[in-house]
Amino acid sequence: MKRTRRALLFVPGTEGAKLEKAAKLGVDCVIADWEDAAALSKKPEARATTLAALASVDFGRSERVVRVNPIGSGLEPDDFAALASATTPPDAVMLPKVEDAMHVRFASSRLAEIEQARGLPLGTIRILGILETALGLVNAREIACSDPRLDALAFGAEDYCGDVGATRTAEGHEVAWGKRALVVHAAAARLQALDTPFVDLNDVERLKADTRRSMELGYTGRLAIHPKQVEPIVAVFTPSADEIAAARRLVDEHTRHQAEGRGVFQLDGKMVDMPMVRAAERVLARAKSAGVA
Ligand code: COA
Ligand code: MG
Repeated sequence: MKRTRRALLFVPGTEGAKLEKAAKLGVDCVIADWEDAAALSKKPEARATTLAALASVDFGRSERVVRVNPIGSGLEPDDFAALASATTPPDAVMLPKVEDAMHVRFASSRLAEIEQARGLPLGTIRILGILETALGLVNAREIACSDPRLDALAFGAEDYCGDVGATRTAEGHEVAWGKRALVVHAAAARLQALDTPFVDLNDVERLKADTRRSMELGYTGRLAIHPKQVEPIVAVFTPSADEIAAARRLVDEHTRHQAEGRGVFQLDGKMVDMPMVRAAERVLARAKSAGVA
C-alpha cells in the first residue's frame, strides 16, 4: 500500500533548523527543497545541509523526501551524485517540472543505481512528480504510467500559470482545468494526487475551503509551506467520525441487502447502489490509513 500523504511540508534544503523543526511535527511527509527554495549559489549548501539532517535527525513517522532540480536543468547530475553519497538516502525523490516520461525514467534509473550500490531492494526509493508546465499537463498520460517507482503526481499552480501566461485570481478559474486534468490522470494510473501549495500563509479559512474543494475533486493530499498549514490540511483529508459512521452504516446496509438478494436499496430517502458503496469503502480506507478507523 502507498504511504499516507495528506500534508507534505516543504522546507528549504539549506535550512537545518527548519528541517529539525519539521521532523518533530509528525507530518506525513517532509520535503527538503533543493530547487526553487535554494538559490543558485546555495545548491551545494542545500545538498550538504539536507544530507546531514537525514543522517542525524530522527524524522519519526514522517516520510523523508528530497525535491531535486528539474531533469535537464544541468543541476540534476550533482543532485543525484549527492544522493548516491548520502549516509542515509531519502525515502523518496520529488521531481519538479516533469514534462516527459523520460524525465521519470531517467530519475528512476539513477535511483536504481543507488539502491544497487547499497544492496537495497529495487524500488525502495519512491518518486513523486510535479506537473507544473503546459507540456507536463499535455504529456500527463505518458508521465503517469512511465515508471513503477512513481506513486504520486502533484499540481504546481504558480509555475503552471507562469508557463501558460495565466493571471492568478482569487477564485482560481485559470487553474481549474489543470487541477482537474491532473486528478484524472493520477486516478487513471492509480497514483495519489497532491494539490499545489496555498501561498497565503495567513488565510487559514481560505486554505481549508480551497483544500476541501480539492478533496471533493479527488485529491488525496496537499503540499504545505508552513507548519501552520499542516493541521488544517490533515483535517480535510482525514474523514470525520460522522463521515466514518455514515460510511460504515451504508456498507453494512449494502451487505444486508446483498444477503437478501437486492443490489439496490433506499437509505434516508436516497438510492444506494455500487458507486455509493465504493465511495463509502474509499472513506473507510482513508480513515484506516489515517489511523482513525
Ligand atoms: N518548515 C519548518 N519550519 C518552518 C517552516 C517550514 N516550512 N516555515 C516556518 N517554519 C518555522 C520557523 O522557522 C519559525 O520557527 P521558530 O518559531 O522556531 O523560530 C516558525 O515556524 C514560524 O515561522 P514564521 O516566522 O511564521 O515564518 P518565516 O518567516 O520564518 O518563514 C517562509 C516563512 C515562507 C520563508 C517559510 O515558511 C518557508 O521556508 N517555507 C517553505 C518554502 C519552500 O520550501 N518553498 C518551496 C516549495 S513551494
Ligand atoms: Mg515549482
